[in-house]
Formats: sequence, structure tokens, C-alpha cells
Amino acid sequence: MASSPLTSLLLGLLAVLLVFARAVSISLPPLPLSTSSRWVVGADGRRVKLACANWASHLEPVAAEGLSRRGVGDIAARVAAMGFNCVRLTWPTYLATNATLSSLPLRWSLERLGLRESAAGVRVNNPALLDLPLIDVFREVVSALASNNIMVILDNQITTPGWCCSGSDGNAFFGDKYFDPEEWLKGLSAMATMFRNTKNVVGMSLRNELRGPHQNVSLWYRYMQQGAEAVHAANPDVLVILSGLDFDLTLSFLFSKQVELSFTGKLVFEQHWYSFSDGTSWEHRNQNDACGVAVESLRAKGLFLHEQGWPLFFSEIGFDLSGTHTGDNRYFTCFLSIAAEMDLDFAFWALQGSYCIREGVLAYDESYGLLSWDWCTARNPSFITRINSMQSAFQGPGLPNSQEPYNIIFHLLTGLCVLVKSGKSLELGPCDESNAWNYTSTSELVLKQTGQCLEAKSVGGTANLGSGNSKPCSRWQLISNSGMHVSTELAKNGTRVCLDAGPDGVIRTNQCKCLTMDPSCDPESQWFKVMLSSRGIPGEASILQLPSLGPWPAASSS
Ligand SMILES: *[C@@H]1O[C@H](CO)[C@@H](O)[C@H](O)[C@H]1NC(C)=O
Ligand SMILES: *[C@@H]1O[C@H](CO)[C@@H](O)[C@H](O)[C@H]1NC(C)=O
Ligand SMILES: *[C@@H]1O[C@H](CO)[C@@H](O)[C@H](O)[C@H]1NC(C)=O
Ligand SMILES: *[C@@H]1O[C@H](CO)[C@@H](O)[C@H](O)[C@H]1NC(C)=O
Repeated sequence: MASSPLTSLLLGLLAVLLVFARAVSISLPPLPLSTSSRWVVGADGRRVKLACANWASHLEPVAAEGLSRRGVGDIAARVAAMGFNCVRLTWPTYLATNATLSSLPLRWSLERLGLRESAAGVRVNNPALLDLPLIDVFREVVSALASNNIMVILDNQITTPGWCCSGSDGNAFFGDKYFDPEEWLKGLSAMATMFRNTKNVVGMSLRNELRGPHQNVSLWYRYMQQGAEAVHAANPDVLVILSGLDFDLTLSFLFSKQVELSFTGKLVFEQHWYSFSDGTSWEHRNQNDACGVAVESLRAKGLFLHEQGWPLFFSEIGFDLSGTHTGDNRYFTCFLSIAAEMDLDFAFWALQGSYCIREGVLAYDESYGLLSWDWCTARNPSFITRINSMQSAFQGPGLPNSQEPYNIIFHLLTGLCVLVKSGKSLELGPCDESNAWNYTSTSELVLKQTGQCLEAKSVGGTANLGSGNSKPCSRWQLISNSGMHVSTELAKNGTRVCLDAGPDGVIRTNQCKCLTMDPSCDPESQWFKVMLSSRGIPGEASILQLPSLGPWPAASSS
């Protein structure tokens, strides 16, 4: 494409601005972090939303996956380029308690497992790490993340290096064959101490997915309290993050009894949720019904903690990013609905596109991986676009340019919001450009600035803004068991219609789809969350605060 010198100049300026924007948008928040009711906040008291990716470093090689495929700095830069501000970095207890293991050079660790190709890959991509002891490799990974302004949560995933988790792997609960509480406490203290002066290490997940036949609520309180105290004593800056029982699917026991700690302002709970977690038959039920039931169950198992004023971090959510698993896709859209509405802190499983070795399989492909098998590209770029608006805060104390809370109409399938594009018609667009809506107590959807309201005129017609004084406005109900169909009755004959986003992004009022019963029908084009935001509205927000995907960093081999 030909371009004039003026356009080149403007494009050049824009590129500089964007690079600057990216650098600014992902700078570390003022640290250390602490908590303020259900929010995680920075040292300045402003909300810090944790938008993390899990990066595995707890399997047999006891080194972060991917070091044989790409430079560690390049991988860290990709985390930032994908819009994440944090990594939940996993480690096995033995890395901190077994000096023979932690001092093993990475090369030997790989070679003892027969992973010669991986060792050769590290020699090419991370030559400086090849002969470092495993503990120093771990430190270098944290440091590469720091260089990219990525916060780190250290997650004690398991005791013995290897894939996690089963109920019978000897790592499931305190007292199991490989899970000596004393050794665990020693490991937590050692890790907390090691990273005491490492600013970007902002939290520690004390133990991943407690589970198995020996799990026991009273022992949970005893040891988790001890673990929390041990970490806090060694490193009072980090958030102390506690996992529940049943593979971290439930924290329901906390409903009536909280933990007792000697310190405040650092305690966060974590919960996990996958499509296979709770037997919800995503593929065999009507999607509205399945999501409605799942959200109710999550409330009872953990989300109630928000109402009680505790932060709850969804530290493992994820699904097959090929997009070919119907159940997985349905689960994830349902997750997005609560993640958006409650503006959850989250960590996606997983960053790694593949493992050196997992469950005995060499070069195991991680179908949930954000990165491709070879770690060179995003496995599913449109997924990263879809979650982009979820990577910064909608709500919470002290948001930049914060406004009186207003409503946005968030479309879960696309991750976009309903905007007034031109004239009176409505289209999907970036949530950062959303108009401020008010979903009133009389169920009208009113544009705050102008007082115009959203109107439905016909089946299949576009949803339009009425004139400021065209009362009465349409009344919009949130119907179906998912509560995500935004529906009204046509004034002229009472026919029920639902907002629907077409592939062209235009918002129409169509017949409501698959409200109940039908398990094969897909309602997602009609799934919206009318939710709160207090992000700066257009014209008032400066570009520097907007998240930016940024370009992929150039390939490098060292
Ligand atoms: C420590 O790690 C080494 C190397 O993996 C291993 O051979 C040894 O058995 C471990 N020691 C203990 C006490 O687990
Ligand atoms: C849980 O552990 C406590 C303390 O060891 C014990 O008294 C109790 O019987 C255990 N409960 C169950 C259900 O195993
Ligand atoms: C909507 O408008 C009502 C009445 O003007 C006001 O009380 C309410 O706070 C507004 N809500 C939002 C979310 O803007
Ligand atoms: C109501 O009006 C719409 C046209 O706006 C039409 O498509 C629909 O069939 C009508 N419904 C009934 C029950 O008359």
C-alpha cells in the first residue's frame, strides 16, 4: 500500500505512542499489594486486578516449561504482549527443601530424565541457564518476568516434581506419603525468605488443590493457618493465598468459620473451576440451565466470600483452546459471565504450549496452552482478543479516571460491549469505548448522557435509541436460567424479543433463542451481562491507561 510522507510520519508517531502506551499500561503497580475488603489493592490503595497466566515449573525437570523452545525474556515479553500482568509460577516443595535437587544444574536435570533434546534446546535458546542450578533457573525466570513488569505468585503445586493432581499421588493432603506438614512449612519459609526482596513476587499460593481420601476440614484450618503464619513471618509483603478442598473446588466450610491469623490485609482465597469440575453436563443440558446451575453452585462453594468481604482469586480456569469441545466452550462463556459481572481476579491455565515431559509423554501438547506447541505464536489469537477487556479492572477502589459506576452491556461471546456507533443504531465495540448506560429500577436501558433509551420495534429489526422524550421506553428483563437474555415485549403486539449480536456486530431484536430445554441450540449470540463499570468513559480516558495487545516480540535465539 502506497503512503504519503505525512501518513508515514503519522503512522510512525502512532507506533511510538502505542509502544509507549504498552510500556506504561503494564508497569508494575505500587507494591506491596494488600487487600481491602474483597479487592486486591496496590500500595496506593487502588485496585490491582490480577490477570494471570499459570506457568508450570513443577514437573520432573523442575524448571519452567518452554526454556528449551524460546528465550526466557522472550516468553516473559509474550505474557505481557498477551495483556497479562501476572504469572502464577508453580514449584514443587523439593525445590526448596532438597539441596541435592535445587543445586542440580538444569542440563543434568534434563539429561537424567533422558531429555537430551530439551537440553539441546536450552543450549540454543537459553545458553546462560543451561549450567545454572535449578534454584537459580527459577530465580532467573522470576527476574525475566520482573524485567517485563509482570507480577509473580509462587504456587506450591506439589511436593515431588511431576504432573499434579490425583487423589492418590501421595501429595494430596497433609500427612500423605509425600506431604509432611513440617517439610511443607520449611519449604514455604525458605521460598518466602528467598524472595523477600524481590518486588514483583507479590503473593504465595500455599498449596495447590488439597484433595483426596484424607482431606479433613479441621486439619485444613490447623495447617493452613500455620502455613500462612510461616509465610507472613518470613515475608510480610506477600499476599497469602489459600486453596480450598476437593481439588480447590470448594471453600464452603469457610461460610461459617473464618481462619484466624495474627495479621490482616494479606489474606486471599483461591478457587479452581474447569468444565470437568463439578459433573455439570455442559453438552447434555440446555446451556442457560447448565450455566444457571453452575453459577449457583460456585456461589455456595466460594463466591460467597466476596459478599463476606474477602478476595477470591480464580487461580485456575481454562479449556481446550482449539475450540472444538462444545462442553468446554460452553463452560468458558459461563465463567466469563461471572468473571465480568464480579470483575474476578483470575489465572488462566496455562501459558505453556507444551511440556518437556508430562505423564511420561515427551513434548506433550498442552491443548489449554495460550501459546502454541512450539511456543512461537498464540494458539488461539481470537481468544486473547476476547478476554482483553477482562484483563483490566471494571470496578474497585481508585480506578484511573474513575466515574460514578454506570452500566455496560457486555457480550460474552465476543468480549465486546454494546456501543452507540453512529446515529441511533447499536453495534459491538471495545468496552473501553462503551457509552454509560443506566439499567434503571423500572427496567429501562437509558443512555446517561442524553437520556435516550433502548427500544425494540420489530422482530429481526435493529435495536435503536429512541428520542430523549419518547416515553414509555421498552422495559428490558434479564430472562432464562442464566439471566443473560436481555428481553422485552414489542409494544405493538406483545411479542417477546431478545437482544442479539449478529456476526456483523449489529445489535438486533430477534426471537429469543433456546431459553430452556433444548440442549443442542446455542444461545450465546444473545448472552449479555448488564454490569457495572466505573472505568473512565471515552473522551475522558487517556490512551495511556488502555490495555494494548501490542505486537509479538521478534523471535530471538538467546
Ligand atoms: C533429593 O533429590 C535428589 C535428586 O533428585 C534425590 O535423588 C533424592 O532422593 C532427594 N532426597 C530426598 C530426601 O527426597
Ligand atoms: C480430622 O482430623 C482430626 C484431627 O486429627 C480428627 O480428630 C478427626 O477425626 C478427623 N476427621 C475426619 C472426618 O477424619
Ligand atoms: C440510574 O439512575 C438512577 C436514577 O437517576 C440512579 O439512582 C442510579 O444510581 C443510576 N444507576 C447507574 C448504575 O447509573
Ligand atoms: C408482532 O409484530 C411483528 C412485526 O413487528 C411480527 O413479526 C409478529 O409476527 C407479530 N406477532 C403477532 C403475535 O402478531
